Amino acid sequence: MKAILFDKQAKPLQLVERDVPMPEPKRGELRVRVRASSINAADWRSMRMGIIPRSRIFGADVCGAVDAVGPGVEGWQEGDEAVGDLSNYGFGGFAEFACASAEAFVRKPAGLDPLLASAVPLAGVTALQALRAAGDISAGQTVLVVGASGGVGTFAVQLARHMGANVTAVTSGANAKAIADLGANRVIDYTKEDYASVAGRFDRILAVHGNASIGTYARLLKKGGTCAVVGGSLRQVFAALILGPLWSLGRTKHRAIAARSNAKDLAYLLELVARETIAPSIERVYRFAEIPLAMDYAQKGHARGKLVIDYEEE
Ligand SMILES: NC(=O)c1ccc[n+]([C@@H]2O[C@H](COP(=O)([O-])OP(=O)(O)OC[C@H]3O[C@@H](n4cnc5c(N)ncnc54)[C@H](OP(=O)(O)O)[C@@H]3O)[C@@H](O)[C@H]2O)c1
Repeated sequence: MKAILFDKQAKPLQLVERDVPMPEPKRGELRVRVRASSINAADWRSMRMGIIPRSRIFGADVCGAVDAVGPGVEGWQEGDEAVGDLSNYGFGGFAEFACASAEAFVRKPAGLDPLLASAVPLAGVTALQALRAAGDISAGQTVLVVGASGGVGTFAVQLARHMGANVTAVTSGANAKAIADLGANRVIDYTKEDYASVAGRFDRILAVHGNASIGTYARLLKKGGTCAVVGGSLRQVFAALILGPLWSLGRTKHRAIAARSNAKDLAYLLELVARETIAPSIERVYRFAEIPLAMDYAQKGHARGKLVIDYEEE
């Protein structure tokens, strides 16, 4: 089968298309013929940090048809359409066929476009889990999303609006209209304004990008409010991890989010997409052979929404 392999020597992007043996599903696993996948920061960040999957194949988000069912798997049969997040199962999605635990997969809602479905798993589940980090959001609560225009941010804005929140989104001017169109009540251009001085006070903050101190987020929160740090600079992430518990003894709560693939969360999100309650925001669809280019573009840090890979031959 064709796969995009990590190869340290491969110039210029260390990713190269090769023929490799088909993976065989082990006990408890499904093999899926991949129809579409999408790029996540987990793919290129792991590559940059030298954390390489055993198969040397990246790719977490997949949508495709079940092609073989391993021993001990119940409830799945050949031909079933599945969507999965393989990031906790060794990756492997950037290949014609991918094997992973049946627990990584949920059924694709009938009629849902595989390209849309493949944009959902890792980024959508991360946004959902971050929004729920301090319990469900109630209607009328105020939410600040810092870094609203990437994969996680575009889901976060739509999900927070769906939950009834009033959403302020921080993004660059180039993406401001697109984010307003997703439903954000207010958009702040971080290249023109210091959102920390003008944004106001919030019940929840999702720090998806950025490089603010815990003190800055604490000042932006109402009493009892929670800041969930999803990503951004290492300083921002480590501050939430190390100092967050201490700050949380005070008037505001600070959490570092480590999203976990979760079938129930993924099925819930796919249903929202199938009902057109939310819509994955997709900047560009690449072909399979263009995965190295898509990874390269993603790691430049300015992709708008998701970059999706279409595996169907032209
Ligand atoms: N904790 C977890 O479990 C978890 C899970 C998934 C992802 N993450 C992390 O979450 C972060 C976001 O992931 P992602 O997939 O959404 O990334 P992404 O799609 O690559 O994000 C790209 C977007 O981020 C915006 N951006 C970049 N720097 C910004 C800044 N300083 N302020 C505001 N916006 C900024 C860019 O907009 P402009 O072009 O307008 O700057 C671009 O649209 C990453 O750090 C990732 O590693 C964490």
